Amino acid sequence: MPAPSEVRKLSDLLEVSQTLGSALDLKSALLRVLEILEEHHGARSGTVALLDEASGELAVEAAVGVSWQAARRARYKLGEGITGRVVQSGKAVVVPQVSREPLFLNRTGVWRESGKEELSYVCVPIRVDNRTLGALGVSLPYRKDRAWEQESSFFAVAGSMVGQAVRVHKLVEAERQRLLEENTQLRQELRERYDIRNLIGNSRPMQQVYEQVAQVAPSATTVLIRGESGTGKELVAHAIHYNSPRAGKPFVKVSCGALPESLIESELFGYEPGAFTDARAQKKGRFELAHGGTLFLDEVGEISPPTQVKLLRVLQEREIERLGGVRPIKVNVRLVAATNQDLEAAVKAGVFREDLYYRLNVFSIYLPPLRERRPDVPLLADHFVVKYAAAHGKDVRRIATTAIDMLMSYHWPGNVRELENCIERAVLVCEGGAIHAHHLPPTLQTAEVSGTLPRLSLEAAVSSYEKDLILDALKSARGNRAKAARLLDSTERILGYKVRKYGIDGRRFKA
Ligand SMILES: Nc1ncnc2c1ncn2[C@@H]1O[C@H](COP(=O)(O)OP(=O)(O)OP(=O)(O)O)[C@@H](O)[C@H]1O
Ligand SMILES: [Mg+2]
Repeated sequence: MPAPSEVRKLSDLLEVSQTLGSALDLKSALLRVLEILEEHHGARSGTVALLDEASGELAVEAAVGVSWQAARRARYKLGEGITGRVVQSGKAVVVPQVSREPLFLNRTGVWRESGKEELSYVCVPIRVDNRTLGALGVSLPYRKDRAWEQESSFFAVAGSMVGQAVRVHKLVEAERQRLLEENTQLRQELRERYDIRNLIGNSRPMQQVYEQVAQVAPSATTVLIRGESGTGKELVAHAIHYNSPRAGKPFVKVSCGALPESLIESELFGYEPGAFTDARAQKKGRFELAHGGTLFLDEVGEISPPTQVKLLRVLQEREIERLGGVRPIKVNVRLVAATNQDLEAAVKAGVFREDLYYRLNVFSIYLPPLRERRPDVPLLADHFVVKYAAAHGKDVRRIATTAIDMLMSYHWPGNVRELENCIERAVLVCEGGAIHAHHLPPTLQTAEVSGTLPRLSLEAAVSSYEKDLILDALKSARGNRAKAARLLDSTERILGYKVRKYGIDGRRFKA
């Protein structure tokens, strides 16, 4: 059985360790530990000094029993005073009588404040991963018969507990710092990725889209983006957010079509514990998550009538209620919605509420289908060649003329998304530096376009390749047949024959 005083010490240590283990903030935990030593252990004062790795000096992190102003100013170099020595050597120092110890610097004013009463001082190292990163110093009233051995081992244990807490705090702090940096970097990447300059296409309709984005982005106006599937609605929604004052706040997307009816409300508005059987903890809805930022309602035409009612209410009141919640929560979100449906027809048919339609259709941006902006096709195609050549580590640099012709005459029912997939696939199957007609999917290989059958025979493939080479040479030679023949290591006569055979119009290459 330990002596009563031993039990006391053990319970003090337990309290110290619980305090350190439960506090979120290191400074207040250290302060509480010093208070425990003061209250239960008769300490007159206590300080925790930690090494500031940048300056190499020791600074007081927490103090009791001394003026905090003096403590905050106190700095020790390594080896300086008792604190500096303890940190340098990693060994505890006991000063039975402060008045007789010249090394006792009294920077925190311990002594004066105790009215010249004789004090003893114990200073123990705070160790983190085998390095001494600080010291715990405690002054006690002087008593001749103190058992210094026991006292200092008690404080040594307290010091090592503080060391553990400092270590955890440093880890958490480093992790927090890393996440912060990562977050900043990711936001930056997103911003660059969705910069309006990354929207490709300079056809008239696209220029109008850019103008509209520039016009509406700075405000908090609700925007409705319309257009067929794959025309770039989501990209434009991002561009609006990242070019708005809300760029530093979240962009939260809700795919209204992908969420089952039973989930959409809890996704949008969140819920309180007990709102329904599975709702154990509270969950924030997307509206709340987007607070300060932008909420993107994709496929908004898919929302069911009951949810339309709730959505309308949120848009009017600018506040939401979690399912099972009692009080409304104010939300500040900018709404961007997108749809590929004919909302006007849906309103007429009675499946989309007219009042909601007007709420959403404040400023609308229409993305024309790709077949109505053909001049953008080669630009987009080149952009995707660069993108996927880099992504797949391939040395594909260009698209041969016959392939471009095919891309230009196809009607692109899947719009830019289909073009993007088509080019990615072509880059993957391409074995040289250029994408040729036979690298494109069969849907594009209509006889009318390439003069080849949907599935290429050897002869057709060779012809198509030969035609590509001739077209490329003529392009480089700006339509000069003699020069083109030289580039191909052939003769002008043979070239002339092939040009006729393939029905190539040489004039289109003249500068
Ligand atoms: N102007 C453009 N410049 C570059 N890439 C584009 C452009 N338009 C669309 N894209 C690309 O095409 C793909 C489809 O675009 P997005 O997802 O924005 O289409 P969407 O209109 O939302 O289609 P859906 O209605 O099917 O959801 C994306 O990978 C996008 O990056
Ligand atoms: Mg989309």
